[in-house]
Amino acid sequence: MIVLASDHAGYPLKEEIKKHLTEQGVAFIDCGTDSPASVDYAAFAQKACLKITSGEAALGVLCCGTGVGISMAANKVKGIRAACCSDYFSAKYTRLHNDANVLCMGARVIGAGLACELVDVFLSTDFEGGRHQRRVDQITAIENGEILG
Ligand code: RB5
Repeated sequence: MIVLASDHAGYPLKEEIKKHLTEQGVAFIDCGTDSPASVDYAAFAQKACLKITSGEAALGVLCCGTGVGISMAANKVKGIRAACCSDYFSAKYTRLHNDANVLCMGARVIGAGLACELVDVFLSTDFEGGRHQRRVDQITAIENGEILG
């Protein structure tokens, strides 16, 4: 299960991604927003990320104007590793190397065609583990208040 959310700026892109996922037969939960009316992105990021940390969804896709604000909010949720991407390589390698569980994109930055390509590679790429596990564990240690090194 995939979870989606956006603010008003990301709403049109989220709707395009929903169409794309439906065509692909990928199940998703839509945490809103449900219109282009102005809203604040943090609550939508949090609502979607809690679906991941509760185990209801495995991965998430969030959209705002730049992808940045919603990624900052998402990364404040314990257990979330959100990556703001606008290129194919980053969307792929943030799964392979960072075990990112949320992809964030900016509706004012990239078009729907590229965004759907990024979603596809993000959802179909597995974490490589190995030496990258240690690095992801260090990110979690920072989240837990540990001082590294
Ligand atoms: C909303 O205008 C815009 O600030 C928001 O969507 C996002 O880009 C913030 O990072």
